[in-house]
Amino acid sequence: MRALVTGGCGFIGSHVVRALLTRGWEVTNLDALTYAANPLNLSGVEAQTGYTFVEGDICDTPLVRALVRGADVVLNFAAETHVDRSLLKPASFVHADVQGVVSLLDALRGEPGAAFFHMSTDEVFGALEPPLEADEDQPFAPTSPYSASKAAAELQVRAYSHSYGMPATVIRACNIYGPNQHVEKFIPLFITRAIAGEPLPLYGDGRQQREWLYIDDFVSALLAAIALPRVDCVRAIHAGSGERVTNLDVATSICSLTARPVSLIRPVDDRPGHDRRYALDSSRMRGLGWRPMVPLLSGLARTVSWYQEHPEIWSRALSGQGFEGYFEEQYRTRLAGADTL
Ligand code: DAU
Repeated sequence: MRALVTGGCGFIGSHVVRALLTRGWEVTNLDALTYAANPLNLSGVEAQTGYTFVEGDICDTPLVRALVRGADVVLNFAAETHVDRSLLKPASFVHADVQGVVSLLDALRGEPGAAFFHMSTDEVFGALEPPLEADEDQPFAPTSPYSASKAAAELQVRAYSHSYGMPATVIRACNIYGPNQHVEKFIPLFITRAIAGEPLPLYGDGRQQREWLYIDDFVSALLAAIALPRVDCVRAIHAGSGERVTNLDVATSICSLTARPVSLIRPVDDRPGHDRRYALDSSRMRGLGWRPMVPLLSGLARTVSWYQEHPEIWSRALSGQGFEGYFEEQYRTRLAGADTL
């Protein structure tokens, strides 16, 4: 089997590339090597049989068209994904997450052999009050420039699939975490700063809830979705763990796993428009026999160990990738005025 994976040097993409190669797939990884990509996430993969790397942008339709030829599946992980950055630079999210997807869809139109799998998010539904859970038919209500771009992309996938009879699967996941995740995100940011003994900027009251899924469990969900019989329409499927906890609880666990005092946690000014809670109903995926295997506390322990053991991989994101400037803009004033818990 042959796959075109976009964004394969990023967090989720790199795990998917490795999983497919292990299962004997031929994999072409198309990655634009933006700040969020880390080629070190794929150390050792370059020399593997069946692996090809192409540096390029999903917005380059002719390039994508050439790469799609002969692929059985196209898996799209190329995206701008960080909500905080979308609040600083919304237009770049429309470019990568909407125009990029339209470009991919245009490239796929003439290739009936290829099934399209598109990575989406529980954030397209906006915040849900407990005990609500979003099933696959929940109406969209995105609130951030990031989630609005992902919702717009999904609508394009739906429109192309409907109009041109293209097979497409949209996978909406909750918060995924684990090795290789960029240090801008909550869990890696808190782990790496806790390791360094630096303050941990917790937005608002820290009582927001997220549903956390370990990366290996996401990969097994994706593989189950790829194995589904093909349909010439669009289908959506949810991959959530059901494990919903507050950010404060996650931060406290990170302090305990890194043997740091909770006094490192600093409540800071909240993210504008911060969604309070996401929750997915993943019974369709569970109906396929899929189950998440890694509970949050074990996944967090594994993740902490990985960041402790692999600074040579994750610290690449700290140097020469503009992270310092981003950190200044995002956190300097916030942390300056922060007290301990
Ligand atoms: O829900 C799925 C989504 O999860 C994905 O679609 C996104 O691509 C991914 O970035 C993630 O979005 P979140 O905004 O939930 O993730 P983030 O790691 O940025 O933040 C997780 C929670 O932690 C959120 O409630 C905000 C909070 N937070 C985050 C950061 C970076 C803090 O309290 N302090 C921080 O410094």
